Amino acid sequence: MNKLVKQDTRSERRITVAVPAGSPSTYDVVVGSGLLAGIGDRLARLSAGAAWGVISDAHVQGLVGESVVAALEAAGCRAVLLVFPAGEQFKTRGTVSDLQNGAIEAGLGRDAWILTVGGGVVGDVGGFVAATLFRGLPMAQVPTSLLAMVDSSVGGKTGVDTPAGKNLVGAFHQPRWVLADVDTLATLPDAELRAGLAEVIKYGVILDQQLFIDLEDGLLESCATRVPEALISVIERCVAIKARVVADDERETNWRQVLNFGHTIGHAVEMLSKYSMRHGEAVAIGMICEAHLAQRLVGAPPDTPVRIRDLCSRAGLPTEIPASLTPDAMLEAARRDKKTRANQIRCALPRQIGAMAHHDGQWAVEVPDSELIAAIEAN
Ligand SMILES: NC(=O)c1ccc[n+]([C@@H]2O[C@H](COP(=O)([O-])OP(=O)(O)OC[C@H]3O[C@@H](n4cnc5c(N)ncnc54)[C@H](O)[C@@H]3O)[C@@H](O)[C@H]2O)c1
Ligand SMILES: [Zn+2]
Repeated sequence: MNKLVKQDTRSERRITVAVPAGSPSTYDVVVGSGLLAGIGDRLARLSAGAAWGVISDAHVQGLVGESVVAALEAAGCRAVLLVFPAGEQFKTRGTVSDLQNGAIEAGLGRDAWILTVGGGVVGDVGGFVAATLFRGLPMAQVPTSLLAMVDSSVGGKTGVDTPAGKNLVGAFHQPRWVLADVDTLATLPDAELRAGLAEVIKYGVILDQQLFIDLEDGLLESCATRVPEALISVIERCVAIKARVVADDERETNWRQVLNFGHTIGHAVEMLSKYSMRHGEAVAIGMICEAHLAQRLVGAPPDTPVRIRDLCSRAGLPTEIPASLTPDAMLEAARRDKKTRANQIRCALPRQIGAMAHHDGQWAVEVPDSELIAAIEAN
């Protein structure tokens, strides 16, 4: 069922992502450096010269957004820049409605295309605007954070938060093209780069033992110090893994749950920190705790939590649950996870680094409350 095709060219890597039952049925993710220079012509070809609504946030607008707009105009396309304030707190229906109004007032019509230029928040918000404006406009993405390059720009999930929780309103809307140019990462704050590295470590744990070993052997530091070739190779490998998973399971019924390793506890920590902790930071703690669970419940080797903790620590990520979070509060928060069934917490767990546990066609393992408490205490 995997339809992943990988092609190497001299200066860029291309991963073709299959969209089951999609139309079009594939899209390309292009990864490399120095690629933004040619973006105007590529987008103009993609949209056959149609107008573009370019959505960005206030940080990325001046760093990348405006030059992409200039490149589109130089390639003969009309381009309208639509900007909202940076940060998760603006990932709201209010922002979506402002952007929709802005696009309509600027005269973008049913034949327009949307381009998102920014981190995961811009991709999720802008993607949701594309999914809903005129009942759906085609969209391309230029992710500019490591997290967006390895994770959120692939898979077609778009949406916003509500006061009741994260990502509660949204739609599946696949991009037509994704361009990850590592040159844009030069301005990404260190803490944001580290948060992205947590997801990179996750990909190694869930499906790519060699990636995990390469990270242990120094690839992690090469990425943390922003060596372009290291970043390109890691982004390519992570996108290829995400593409394999989402190609089989677009709607998260089953196999896609492996992407949730570290996220049941991670989301609980993130929520209990009132989002003062970055997602990737919370996921680092979540991965270590869930690795303890993996050891207890699915026979993962005893060094599994140790190796994950070492890599997270080398990446400068937090590894301890904040002392203020009690096991009971963690249990309660973890129960709100979308994998919970009949009040029973479930986690996607590795049986070893690079391979996930799987039982009766299920990729999420039931976790008794007592085991979760024990894993939290082992952390
Ligand atoms: N759709 C999905 O499948 C999916 C998957 C994972 C995460 N997400 C979502 O992604 C979001 C997190 O993404 P994120 O970590 O990229 O957050 P973000 O978009 O808030 O970016 C983090 C910060 O970095 C700034 N930034 C981004 N690129 C920059 C650059 N090149 N130079 C300087 N500053 C830059 C942003 O302005 C922001 O302040 C969350 O809302 C999460 O729910 C979605
Ligand atoms: Zn995540």
